[in-house]
Amino acid sequence: MKTTGNIILKNASELVTCSGFERKIGKDMNNIHVIKDGAVVIKDGIITKVGKTNEVLNGFDTTEYKVIDCTGKTVTPGFVDSHTHLVFGGYRDEEFSWRLRGDSYVSIMERGGGIVKTVNGTRSASFDELFNEGIKRLNSMARFGVTTVESKSGYGLDLDTELKQLEVNKALNQKHSIDLVSTFMGAHDIPLEYKGRSAEYIDYIIDEVMPIVKQKNLAEFCDIFTEDKVFSIEESRKLLLSAKEMGFKLKMHADEIVQLGGSELAAEVGCISADHLLQASDKGISDMAKAGVICTLLPATAYSLKADFARGRHMIDNGCSVAVATDFNPGSCFTESIPLIISLATLYMGMTIEETISALTINGAAALGRADKIGSIDVGKQGDLVIHEFPSYHFLTYHIAVSSVDTVIKDGRVIYKSNKNEVK
Ligand code: NIG
Ligand code: FE
Repeated sequence: MKTTGNIILKNASELVTCSGFERKIGKDMNNIHVIKDGAVVIKDGIITKVGKTNEVLNGFDTTEYKVIDCTGKTVTPGFVDSHTHLVFGGYRDEEFSWRLRGDSYVSIMERGGGIVKTVNGTRSASFDELFNEGIKRLNSMARFGVTTVESKSGYGLDLDTELKQLEVNKALNQKHSIDLVSTFMGAHDIPLEYKGRSAEYIDYIIDEVMPIVKQKNLAEFCDIFTEDKVFSIEESRKLLLSAKEMGFKLKMHADEIVQLGGSELAAEVGCISADHLLQASDKGISDMAKAGVICTLLPATAYSLKADFARGRHMIDNGCSVAVATDFNPGSCFTESIPLIISLATLYMGMTIEETISALTINGAAALGRADKIGSIDVGKQGDLVIHEFPSYHFLTYHIAVSSVDTVIKDGRVIYKSNKNEVK
């Protein structure tokens, strides 16, 4: 159950506000608005004051508040993991080792492994099994400072299982303190029943699944895997335009493995974000910049698949808004590690730490259509914050791939506190 609290954070060595109510574009992502010796007041879960500690707390009656002294610590907005496949049944641990021996992701898919294997596991899993695993995964994400997460369906590929996954999303959002944004991804792959008939499968999704998802209000976004041997540009255009007409906001898995023109299509149909983009062309990048499509980069997937990283630096230099996310899923990227994402974004995609922080906060929020509510420490926004154990935000990348999370605050309540004395 969602509950809210009253809390004050004071004396933060650095309060990284990422201030703003919309996506940050291009090099403006470097402006993360740091307040030294900062304080934040949260009342009933909403941020009501932000500034220097002496200004914010001068004459302020703190009696109804829990007060946390953040001396020597850095405070950031809660992280937004804007691309995950959180709900699935069964694992694909062996496939990972096959890939280490040289088998490609696509060749494993063609052998009936890959997404289809998880589809079988998800179809046979009960609602409760999916829900209970989901809670554990959300708990793990919370420990990394994530306060909002997107969760896609797409391991059902039939009406009943897609609905089951989306109902699990709904229940997780109601139960867990992390906010969950639900995305319908019935077009994640072609199920075996439709092998060789991808166009018919797209029609089935449009005619028989999407209207029910919409009617039950189970998803805000619609996503598709536009890729060689999966869904073509034409099939993707058809599905995305139908989804738009039904009132879904749009996302795409675009130009991940092959340069198919997904980035250009994302700009053409008005996607809020296009994700992966390892192979995005110069034209695709410029189209996305012009259309305001957020480029959601998933560097841990490139790392896990031993692929070249997306051109984050080039995208930012060319006026794109970049978000970064985990892509947590059982196949191409089984990790919820935010510190790993930060390391890869800074060391391998050429992004500054400031840009990376914007990508994980305000731009992640914008990729979920929520830049007016989360993703920065501004008056009026949800009180979702992370206290980090070090005095400056540079430690987020300097302490390589290690979590610096000390305390996580969601809607003005402490939902996680690390315990550095736990080793006996
Ligand atoms: O985002 N690219 C397609 N979908 C997922 C992988 C899902 C899986 O392998 O189970 C992704 O990487
Ligand atoms: Fe994905």
